[in-house]
Amino acid sequence: MTSGKLVAAILAGVIAALALLVGYRAVISRSDAVFAARHPQPVSTVAAATSPAAVAAGARLATVANCTLCHGPMLAGPTAGGPAAHFRSPNLTLIVGRRSDAELDRAIRDGLNADGTSELAMPSFAYHEMSDAEVADVLGYLRSLKPQGRAFHPPPPGWVDRLAAAFGRFRTQVDRLALAKPALDLGPPFAAGRHLAVVACGQCHGSDLAGGDGLPGPDLTVRGFFTRAQFHELMRTGDMPQNAHSELMQEAARSGLHALSPAEVDAIYDYLVARDARLSKMRAPAR
Ligand code: HEC
Ligand code: HEC
Repeated sequence: MTSGKLVAAILAGVIAALALLVGYRAVISRSDAVFAARHPQPVSTVAAATSPAAVAAGARLATVANCTLCHGPMLAGPTAGGPAAHFRSPNLTLIVGRRSDAELDRAIRDGLNADGTSELAMPSFAYHEMSDAEVADVLGYLRSLKPQGRAFHPPPPGWVDRLAAAFGRFRTQVDRLALAKPALDLGPPFAAGRHLAVVACGQCHGSDLAGGDGLPGPDLTVRGFFTRAQFHELMRTGDMPQNAHSELMQEAARSGLHALSPAEVDAIYDYLVARDARLSKMRAPAR
């Protein structure tokens, strides 16, 4: 190699290293800007409801809404190895004592951490429609929990998430909430079933129950696929007709959906069947 070529090779190497360093710094600073962005914090006037009846209702709602799937059966952090273990959801029993009711409300319904940054994995887009009374019950339940277990914190975002954030492709929970579409409103007869479906199924099947957007659950189509009896079985066990099964649906049933009352399961089923009918009418070619 002539000395001229050697100098050129060294220069090319130095330029490549510099470019890498600049790229690395850019990814770090641009993704930090996404993860550390502070968002407006909506005013919350909800106060924890602490009567025994409210606490019991809150415990049931936390089960049905599957807070237990990620935060663990006692909300004291997930059991190692469950399908939701990789969310590394915090041990709520060690946290609630340090949070105001408003902060807890915003964490549940608005996708916000107490410092105003966006949550990354907590599915507020599914809980945004919870009523003030429901949140008051859940807060009463959270406040009733004895601190137990060890602290369990979500890890900082990894490289895949950082790259996605740097290129504007990462959806924080605040982003997801802003993009969330409401589930079809079919009027008062179906309102209770619709509400339950959004709160209990939305985290995996989407706020509009239509699946997609990186969520694990598909569009919630039951008509023609599930009889009412099979649907009850699905909610109780996660088992599907023809021995098909989904590990996540089974886990959802085991950790939460089994607590739905038969009347609630019927209400969800009736709503989903009516939703299917309305959607297929809307999708039918206009004449
Ligand atoms: C898909 C998993 C998942 C589900 C389901 C879930 N959470 Fe979370 N939750 C998280 C994660 C992860 C965080 C940490 C914040 C983040 O997302 O970055 C969190 C944060 C929180 C916080 C804030 C903790 C703090 O530090 O202030 C509260 C309160 C909370 N969750 C309550 C609930 C309740 C109540 C439910 C059910 C109605 C629920 N969560 C359902 C994953 C989940
Ligand atoms: C923890 C996530 C999770 C929750 C919560 C959840 N599901 Fe699912 N569900 C899934 C996944 C994943 C599948 C896809 C299974 C497959 O096709 O292998 C699924 C599939 C289904 C199917 C079959 C759909 C089809 O086209 O095959 C129905 C019906 C269903 N879920 C109903 C519900 C209802 C109703 C709720 C709430 C009451 C609910 N699920 C809550 C994850 C979830």
